[in-house]
Amino acid sequence: MIDSVKVFAPASVANLACGFDILGLALEAPGDEIIARFNPESKELKIVSITGDEGRLPRDIESNTAGFAAHQFLNSINYNGVGIDLEIHKKMPFGSGLGSSAASAVGAVFAVSQLLGGQWTKNDLLPFAVLGEQQADGAYHADNVAPSLFGGIVLIRDNHSLDVMQLPVPDDLTVAVIHPQIEILTKEARSILASTVPLRDHIVQSGHLGSFIVGLYTNDFERIHKSVVDVVIEPQRARQIPHFYTVKSIVEKLGALGCSISGSGPSIFAFCRGVDQAGFIAERMGDVYGAHGIAVDIFSGKINTQGVQTIE
Ligand code: HSE
Repeated sequence: MIDSVKVFAPASVANLACGFDILGLALEAPGDEIIARFNPESKELKIVSITGDEGRLPRDIESNTAGFAAHQFLNSINYNGVGIDLEIHKKMPFGSGLGSSAASAVGAVFAVSQLLGGQWTKNDLLPFAVLGEQQADGAYHADNVAPSLFGGIVLIRDNHSLDVMQLPVPDDLTVAVIHPQIEILTKEARSILASTVPLRDHIVQSGHLGSFIVGLYTNDFERIHKSVVDVVIEPQRARQIPHFYTVKSIVEKLGALGCSISGSGPSIFAFCRGVDQAGFIAERMGDVYGAHGIAVDIFSGKINTQGVQTIE
């Protein structure tokens, strides 16, 4: 029997412009590493170490996203075996719009389930990881959790019943992501949103959402480009992100296939064609912030089609 499991849970880009709370994709990097280990000396689930958080995350199981998610899972299976220790290695920025809390929740639930024999499907684990995310931002939505868990590009028909499906990922479709080092908490970025959508915006947004999905199914990059549009959320959140419209206009001129806010921001993503273009565009996005003395993290590459995985 194994006594320890280490997993990698990827970061994710939620919303993808036209799908607020219902679309997301997984990145190849960054991501969190979570270790789950049996501890015969204990009877409890415990967080024994967190690195990469500068001491900011709670160590208490019920207040920590990863701990809470894993605990909910263990309760659901009536686990009463020996204690389990969790190590959480944060390898991505918080409050970045890259699904940091979702990755921790996914990593913890997956690591614990693998430690206990791995007889649960990812669909079985999804609700517990979403509960962890909800503990962090107060809302029950799977648009970061589901891509981090399953990989690829994910559509959520309904967040309550977690009716989630994976969409096709065109081979050459890549992403450039930039994280300007300012922090925006999802809870706050959600609280500024208007609670109603004008009918005309709903019509425009629905058209783009449907068309984006058709673009993925038909490998139609032109259609994808035309459809990565957000007339509902982006205009409300962009003002929180300095230089957002400068980045967006540069990226469009460089031939990206659309650009918008990653999740609740401040990260910005652009769809690209091929890894070279994604790398180049990510660098140019970084230049905008460099010119204003704002530090950035830059990521680019293919879409991660595997999702969370065991690495040791
Ligand atoms: N859909 C969520 C939002 C993603 O934009 O608020 C961030 O967790």
